[in-house]
Amino acid sequence: MEMNPDELIEAAKAVRERAFAPHSNFKVGAAVRSKSGRVYTGCNVESASYGLTVCAERVAIWKAVSEGETDLTEIAIVTDTEMLTPPCGVCRQIIWEFCGDVPITLANCSGNKDTVTTRELLPRAFDTKFLK
Ligand code: THU
Repeated sequence: MEMNPDELIEAAKAVRERAFAPHSNFKVGAAVRSKSGRVYTGCNVESASYGLTVCAERVAIWKAVSEGETDLTEIAIVTDTEMLTPPCGVCRQIIWEFCGDVPITLANCSGNKDTVTTRELLPRAFDTKFLK
């Protein structure tokens, strides 16, 4: 599958507007592409009990998985910050488990972007192969 971060960035930017972030006011959008070519989007959804908050990346991945898509090939994350926002530690683990070593494009609303890989962000990752 060809990498096309710009399409994912646009989708992530659009869904970011729907972020439910009344506690942090930090809106995040994410978009993940499946091998079939479909794009699944997610925004962060915060809880009054803070700890139950779910990040945009996981919302996008859970939406894809719940639609039967388990072969995910690329992800983009958009915030409105000067410094590009990398995924949190929990999301790095979930990206590793559900997408593998894929391109992760970090972008902001001013058009800056950078693509890294899961392995770069999470070296020596834990996954199911250690459970056998
Ligand atoms: N957030 C994400 O959506 N993705 C990340 O990888 C980092 C953090 C959200 C969670 C919370 O709603 C807000 O950003 C501030 O932490």
